[in-house]
Amino acid sequence: MADIVDAVLAIMRVLWLMVPMLIPNSAAVLFGGGTPVDFGKKMKDGTRYLGDGKTWRGLAGGTLSGMVVGLIQVGLMTALDIPEWTYDPCIICTVFILFLLAFGSMFGDMLGSFVKRRMKIKRGAKAPILDQYDFLFGTLILIIPIEWEWFHENMLDGIYLVGFIGLIVLIPFMHRAMNIIGFKMGKKDVPW
Ligand code: CTP
Ligand code: MG
Repeated sequence: MADIVDAVLAIMRVLWLMVPMLIPNSAAVLFGGGTPVDFGKKMKDGTRYLGDGKTWRGLAGGTLSGMVVGLIQVGLMTALDIPEWTYDPCIICTVFILFLLAFGSMFGDMLGSFVKRRMKIKRGAKAPILDQYDFLFGTLILIIPIEWEWFHENMLDGIYLVGFIGLIVLIPFMHRAMNIIGFKMGKKDVPW
């Protein structure tokens, strides 16, 4: 019984710490628009580098939103005196980790679009797995080499590994739920 409670707590903790990675995609939908990141440029075969779905406003708005939400979370946990649910005792280190989580998420989203365009999948068209996991991939390829110690301590060590696996299992469900909300709000043309 105690094991199950520990496992559930570990999943909740990882989900909490990864909120700044989960927020940017939804925030980009709200803030997006205007100049595309690839400035409309095409590759030799006529396909766009990223497409009109990746804009500078979305990139900046998504990254900043994730970081701001992360700082609010840290403030909350500090006020509640629960330091285990914050990132790092040092605030500059915290801001840096939040940047990697939030920007990494948007970076992965752009990598996903880059791959989709190479596969001739049109902007907004479905690409299973890629759509659900590109942001996690983007965050991991930045955070693993740059903040390995933090990642290992908080996502892989002991029971936290259960939390990290829980995150991977839950991502498609959260992704689906957010997209349905975006669709119902009229912010997304398709519910995926
Ligand atoms: N968005 C943005 N800038 C970003 C990421 C997202 O402006 N860097 C906005 C766009 O309006 C985009 C919407 O958020 O249409 C949904 O994002 P996403 O599903 O990632 O883009 P898609 O339009 O589906 O394009 P793609 O096929 O390239 O994934
Ligand atoms: Mg999409």
